[in-house]
Amino acid sequence: MSFVTRRKPVEAAHREGSGLKKTLGWPHLVALGVGAIIGTGIYTLTGVAAGLAGPAVILSFAVAGAVCACAALCYAEMASLTPQAGSAYTYSYVTLGEMVAWVIGWSLILEYTLVCSAVSVGWAGYATGLIRSAGWPIPATLLAGPEAGGIVNLPAVFIAIAVTGMLLVGTRESATVNFVLVCVKLVALAAFVAFTLPAFDASHFHPFAPFGFGAHEIDGKKYGVMGAAAIIFFAFYGFDAISTAAEEAKNPRRDLTIGIVGSMVICTLIYMVVAAAALGAQPFDAFSKSPEPLAFVLRQLGRPGAASLIAGAAVVALPTVIMVFMFGQSRVFFAMARDGLLPRGLAGVDRRGVPVAVTVLTGLISAVIAGFLPLSEIASLANAGTLAAFIATACAVMALRRRAPQLERPFTTPLVWVIGPAAVLGCLYLFTSLSAKTIGFFFAWNAVGVVVYLAYGRTKSALASA
Ligand code: ALA
Repeated sequence: MSFVTRRKPVEAAHREGSGLKKTLGWPHLVALGVGAIIGTGIYTLTGVAAGLAGPAVILSFAVAGAVCACAALCYAEMASLTPQAGSAYTYSYVTLGEMVAWVIGWSLILEYTLVCSAVSVGWAGYATGLIRSAGWPIPATLLAGPEAGGIVNLPAVFIAIAVTGMLLVGTRESATVNFVLVCVKLVALAAFVAFTLPAFDASHFHPFAPFGFGAHEIDGKKYGVMGAAAIIFFAFYGFDAISTAAEEAKNPRRDLTIGIVGSMVICTLIYMVVAAAALGAQPFDAFSKSPEPLAFVLRQLGRPGAASLIAGAAVVALPTVIMVFMFGQSRVFFAMARDGLLPRGLAGVDRRGVPVAVTVLTGLISAVIAGFLPLSEIASLANAGTLAAFIATACAVMALRRRAPQLERPFTTPLVWVIGPAAVLGCLYLFTSLSAKTIGFFFAWNAVGVVVYLAYGRTKSALASA
């Protein structure tokens, strides 16, 4: 079989042990999911997306949520069938062949690194608001990246490095901290809705879609409901990070399904309500440029105390998202190195089970990107990598239904011949709604990836010597 199409047998993926401990039940997985999903998307990108779509950003949320729900159902089937670290990378390897798997793994590395950067920038928006209201004498040029008129976004660099340090202390502590912080994040969003609902003004929803429906590019940004959906898509993913922890689940088949589908549904409902509350309280163009839109809305309503409360919750809780994605990154590296496609040294763990090299590497690169690049560009590129992974997973589910119908499937994607194509087409449509610059960079990244694969993985792959 050629190196392009050689596949890992799906049965082997079932059996392969990893030495990772099975300590996570479904409540941990839902917490891991909600911890990864709710973050900069709703706290910060709501503003960016409202600036691209107007009040119709509510529709952008619905479109992105629907596409993600279809993808999540495909993930659940693959995760229950292949309860193994590596997420979409592993699913592609057992169905679509090594070359596609490599491209998806390479895209996931891009995604996970950039999500860490994007959330760091989102965190910095709220932290900077608090720093300013506390009157700390930090020069403005050190609180924003070049795009926003500064030199470096130092708070964003700080948080990326700080989370890296926390993960180096050990995953177990991080998982417990994660659970508490997920609760903080949820309570803060509930408080935001409670504070803003009394000020709800339906006139803010007219005109509803000032930039139209289809995505159209102006000055390097895609406007319209779909342009905003392509950005706000960022707010919905993270459930795939659960499947990267599959080998640590106590009862992977049942728990992963509950974890993925459950956290997806909870988050979608919360977003619709929070976005409607923000739009009802303030005209979209008032808060769309703020780096801390939720706190901004509350301050405009004359509630500076509540604004600080939300900002405080964001500052305390958003790092959970960075944590989950750094964790996911190490698991993707782990799976790719185990298959021989990346050097094993990179995925090595120390005596306590902490993947030191990959955590430090991801942390440093995320910190540099967060310090100098604008949020919308980082998030768009992370979306490109994620969309590629979602497309591959939906294709993998359908391919496996055809090729191995006899396999026992603890979870089956309902109406797979509707949901699967809907996930693929929806993701493709969102992908083409990204800016030309983002799409160009994504292909350049993967061109480099293909060269790396041909030079290293093609011959070092465990399947090459099998
Ligand atoms: N969905 C995650 C967030 O919004 C990545 O921060």
